[in-house]
Amino acid sequence: MSHAYTRREAALFLGAAALFPVAARAARAGDARSMIVHKSATCGCCGGWSSRMRDAGFVVEEINEPDMKAIKAKFGVPEKMASCHTAELDGYVIEGHVPAAAIERLLKERPKAIGLAAPGMPMGSPGMEMGEPETYTLYLFDASGAGEFGRWLGDKPA
Ligand code: CU
Ligand code: CU
Repeated sequence: MSHAYTRREAALFLGAAALFPVAARAARAGDARSMIVHKSATCGCCGGWSSRMRDAGFVVEEINEPDMKAIKAKFGVPEKMASCHTAELDGYVIEGHVPAAAIERLLKERPKAIGLAAPGMPMGSPGMEMGEPETYTLYLFDASGAGEFGRWLGDKPA
């Protein structure tokens, strides 16, 4: 069956198309629900984490980067804190497979820090749901060092 667009449908479509550039700008502006995820094109777990974040209500824009080491240097992620992907969210850097619940706590408490990290690739963390889940530590970090932000198992405090 063919479907001819009504004038109203055409107007809705054009309206939606006009809104998209605005949405893209909003994601870059760094409001509390929009993040930009810098990732390697060849790493699947980064995409897994992005979908967990979308499930949790964040607007996620992904950028494939040729050099993640350079990205970590640019955003001030210490080598010890490094994981695969690096995200920007509302003035903070989120490094690796950090659970949404930890990000919510970060945005509520607003500590003075560069960001929050899940160093390495903890098994069972969001986007890493494979094998035996392990308990892992999150860290709040800045240029001078890092402090613990709780022990976690899967996507919940341990
Ligand atoms: Cu990963
Ligand atoms: Cu990854």
